[in-house]
Amino acid sequence: MRKHLIAASLALLATLPAFAGEHVYDITGKTYQSECASCHIAYPPQLLPAESWRKLMAGLAKHFGTDASVDDRIATELTRFLEQNAGGRRNAADPAAAAAPPRISTTPWFIREHRKIATSQWQSKTIGSAANCSACHSRADNGDYS
Ligand code: HEC
Ligand code: HEC
Repeated sequence: MRKHLIAASLALLATLPAFAGEHVYDITGKTYQSECASCHIAYPPQLLPAESWRKLMAGLAKHFGTDASVDDRIATELTRFLEQNAGGRRNAADPAAAAAPPRISTTPWFIREHRKIATSQWQSKTIGSAANCSACHSRADNGDYS
């Protein structure tokens, strides 16, 4: 009996990405997956501060050259989800890029973390853009960057 309980708890732990390591992020919000993972992977909410997410959500009609707008009810739900899971000062946006919608890939944190990658590598055909996380992080669609 107890053995079964332990096995069950271990199985449960294995399904919780937050326990798997420092660079695995929970991106399992159902609405987030359906609305924000169709054109690109669901970016980890933890990698931008709440302020940046609010700004991005306020400009969805002009989202990096596309219209990614959603109805008001969905927008409210998504904004709440992003705020609740947002990162802190460590992941703050680059103030110089304040005019555009915030990117994870232009934050000082991101640039420091990826400083060993050559410019030619970023621009190679298979990668194309620093926003294409899954070109290098093969489990990025599960929030896993380890
Ligand atoms: C209609 C397609 C589309 C939808 C839907 C969409 N996006 Fe995007 N998103 C884009 C494009 C295009 C880019 C720019 C990608 C690039 O630079 O290679 C982008 C870039 C981003 C970036 C910046 C990535 C980086 O760090 O460089 C974030 C953050 C982002 N989207 C969040 C969201 C969120 C949150 C949602 C849901 C509300 C969403 N997107 C829905 C098309 C979309
Ligand atoms: C050109 C390939 C490439 C792209 C594209 C890329 N990364 Fe990375 N990323 C790396 C490499 C390589 C490292 C390890 C850097 C090091 O340890 O020096 C890394 C490290 C990381 C880390 C820290 C992980 C750790 O174990 O220290 C995170 C988090 C991360 N990337 C997130 C992202 C996100 C989010 C995106 C997309 C917005 C992205 N990366 C796009 C190659 C890439």
